[in-house]
Amino acid sequence: MKLEEFALERTLSLYENLVEYDISPSGVHHYTIDELLTEDEQQELLKQELGYGWTNGSVELRETIAALYKDRDADNVVVSSGSAEANLLVVLSFLEPGDEIIVVVPNFLQIWGLARGLGITVKELWLKEDLGWQPDFSELSELVTPKTKMISICHPNNPTGQYLSLEDMQRLARFCRDHEIWLHADEIYRGSEITVEEPPSFADLYEKAIVSSGTSKAMGLPGLRVGWLVGPKDEIYVAWQRKDYASTVPSTPMQFIADIALKPARRQQILERGRARLRSNLSIVSNWVESYSDHISFLPPQAGAMAFFRYHYDINSTELMHRLRKEQNILVLAGDVYGLDHFIRIGICIPEEHLRIGLERMDRLFESLNSTYK
Ligand SMILES: Cc1ncc(COP(=O)(O)O)c(C=O)c1O
Repeated sequence: MKLEEFALERTLSLYENLVEYDISPSGVHHYTIDELLTEDEQQELLKQELGYGWTNGSVELRETIAALYKDRDADNVVVSSGSAEANLLVVLSFLEPGDEIIVVVPNFLQIWGLARGLGITVKELWLKEDLGWQPDFSELSELVTPKTKMISICHPNNPTGQYLSLEDMQRLARFCRDHEIWLHADEIYRGSEITVEEPPSFADLYEKAIVSSGTSKAMGLPGLRVGWLVGPKDEIYVAWQRKDYASTVPSTPMQFIADIALKPARRQQILERGRARLRSNLSIVSNWVESYSDHISFLPPQAGAMAFFRYHYDINSTELMHRLRKEQNILVLAGDVYGLDHFIRIGICIPEEHLRIGLERMDRLFESLNSTYK
């Protein structure tokens, strides 16, 4: 199997821990265990046995996750090691060499890369910047063939932070139903809405939807490594079988914590803290962008924890990222990892102080770009 380098992950893995200020993070700034759990819960955590458990996740946690969706129970859920493993299970469970998948891009590109590595034909449906990062549905009809098994979408979108309208979500579900294809939705950012209400899950709109999600992004709990897949029972059973070849059992103490965090009232509390920071940091970022109106354009995200800018300097995005890293000791993510040069991504749910310092350091480099490249 020939896997291309996963450019987005590789770039972060190489550099995120080496800079003074990492302003690239893609999730809500993380909680500590102390902030998350009450004293009683912390005491309970200490009593958790460090044994194996169910390979598809504890029954309690699967029931808690199932309750986030309509008419689902524990057998509709498989718990994974992060949503990254859930995405891996999607490819291993639903696709075979020779199949076709349509991936809505820009995207996190994990499914895209894995599928290509396994000999599945990947077609891209590009979200259009001039349509507010929405798809043109007429292009979708041109991409589908009798070999198409699945459409995969990241919703809300990484990196643009945009949603489909409810009408377009329903339209996409209808399209998949009419063509009898699976709809995979990576909903890891659901719950991080800044300017809109939390939309429904695709799992509640389409009977053949497979949803991957987890606690990492909107909830700010990436260190739990708790993700999941939700879908029809037979297919979830197959994903569970595939999991026997991957991480087998999810971590037992982390499932204990996730079960507390995902109970409806606590989940809302956790999400609200993230949204409050997102709202206030987004206004800092928007003011900063305004001061660069000749050089930067940007559609403010509706959700998600990142801002994705187009810049109008004559410099490649990977080169810009490395100059910021070497000259200013900060990390941003180059649009090149998404196949979009002249864009950069920054995290907007990092601590305010880090964000302000990061923006000041970008100012410093941009000043030199003004004189060097304009
Ligand atoms: C859209 C998307 N899906 C999945 C993941 C994987 O997240 P995790 O494995 O931490 O749950 C990421 C991580 O950046 C992501 O951006």
